[in-house]
Amino acid sequence: MRIIGSIDEAAKIHDWVRYCEVLRGLPRVVVRKDAPRGWKYLSSGSYRSAWLSPSGVVYKVNHRRETYWDQSATEAANLRSAWFQKPPAGCRIVKFGTYSVKGEVIVAMEYVDGELVCALWEAQVNTDPYYARMRRMEDLFKLSDLHGDNAMVDGNGNLVVIDWGC
Ligand SMILES: Nc1ncnc2c1ncn2[C@@H]1O[C@H](COP(=O)(O)OP(=O)(O)O)[C@@H](O)[C@H]1O
Ligand SMILES: [Mg+2]
Repeated sequence: MRIIGSIDEAAKIHDWVRYCEVLRGLPRVVVRKDAPRGWKYLSSGSYRSAWLSPSGVVYKVNHRRETYWDQSATEAANLRSAWFQKPPAGCRIVKFGTYSVKGEVIVAMEYVDGELVCALWEAQVNTDPYYARMRRMEDLFKLSDLHGDNAMVDGNGNLVVIDWGC
């Protein structure tokens, strides 16, 4: 499903991350943080790194091939089944695209201009309403262990889950 992003960008960032691993020949995860020209490294979680493309789209690349849990394949399946459903009040479904590059799933996602729920909590904002919405998203879309690093609040005050691999 390709709502946003492009196969060229997906292949570019996939190869960038993979080339680094091959180059270093390391068996374990070493997250590359330097970005190709026009790209920006955003952040990395336990499983993937997130990159902002020159066209303003976020791409997620699994850290390593032998990972025991393909986070992006799970995320792609979850997003595809959620896209045609109505989200709970105060929540919206992030725009996304799924790409297959050399046998790996690359998820593209709209860049959400907002704050992570955990950052709001750290800034002592009352995040109770956002956690309540996260629980509703978990129930509706059968997500597990949705936490404040995986959901953002956008400029309109909507909760947007940005990691569907959970
Ligand atoms: N669509 C997005 N918009 C803005 N920032 C994002 C987006 N997707 C990911 N990020 C940033 O990248 C981080 C890691 O992405 P995430 O999908 O949670 O990876 P992981 O599966 O490794 O946990 C997030 O915590 C967030 O800071
Ligand atoms: Mg995450």
